[in-house]
Amino acid sequence: MVAKAELHCHIEGTASPALAREKAALYGVDISAFVRDDAYIWHDFTSFLVAYDAISMLFRTAEDYADLAERYLTRLARDGAIYSEFFISTDHAVSAGLDPQAYIEGLAEGIRRARNATGIECRMIATGLRHIGPEAVEHAARFVTANPHPLITGFGMAGDERMHHAADFRRAFDIARDAGLGLTVHAGEFAGATSVRDALDALKPSRIGHGVRAIEDRDLVKRLAEEGIVLECCPGSNIALGVYDSFEDHPFKALSDAGVKVTLNSDDPPFFHTDLGREYDIACDVFRLDDDPLRGITRTAIKAAFIDEETRAKLL
Ligand code: ADE
Ligand code: ZN
Repeated sequence: MVAKAELHCHIEGTASPALAREKAALYGVDISAFVRDDAYIWHDFTSFLVAYDAISMLFRTAEDYADLAERYLTRLARDGAIYSEFFISTDHAVSAGLDPQAYIEGLAEGIRRARNATGIECRMIATGLRHIGPEAVEHAARFVTANPHPLITGFGMAGDERMHHAADFRRAFDIARDAGLGLTVHAGEFAGATSVRDALDALKPSRIGHGVRAIEDRDLVKRLAEEGIVLECCPGSNIALGVYDSFEDHPFKALSDAGVKVTLNSDDPPFFHTDLGREYDIACDVFRLDDDPLRGITRTAIKAAFIDEETRAKLL
């Protein structure tokens, strides 16, 4: 089995419908609007975000999050993954009534359990949510830099990229950068190449979440290749959310052929009926990448990971 790594997965988005049902029964919450026949219900990006928020409200204690992280990482290790970076969101924890410090400690405990059982390495990326606005994202950056944790090594922004301008978030990213955190921004998913360019210019991340719609601008593709910007591509997510009609239409291979550094990621696996193993399978079956290029993609991820050089050297 090819060793795998992923840099882009939202921890709240890893909960299976079965686990969501279990928590809903425990906390007495009706989730019938969001789960049917063991699948999540949504029909576009906006309703996906609503379902995602509703499911995240079912995780309310440090142990809920320890369990969630342990399950996700254990499954990932079984699929051959040696490394994962997942996004965390203190905004979601606070909305669910959980102290953000307890949220982080719970997740760190889950990471330790999975590492002890399987050897998988993992780091966390704190995120702000773009659609909540610049003040909330800056607050998320201030919180994580004022309360550093050794397993939180990055800062990012998720949410609806059609809202606000990248430059509105400059201060949040400056705070995170000054604290030594690695930076990544969701862009080029539901907005085009301009969104990617604006994120690069204003926020100076080393990685872009998705970024695939950069393909719409030849000069931008050239810039990504020249500057060595790494794209956290999530083909299964893009097809599920309708960014592209089919895997055959997805620009993963074209971006890679143009010299852009690309990685494979699962984003919110059960919401999109995917997992990292399936993403590598698609890359093999549709993008026609055999084991050597797939190993290269894993190496690209490890080289771009927000980890210390000693751990990186061990993983490479
Ligand atoms: N949050 C969770 N999944 C997301 C996605 N695919 N895009 C933006 N924000 C997200
Ligand atoms: Zn994402």
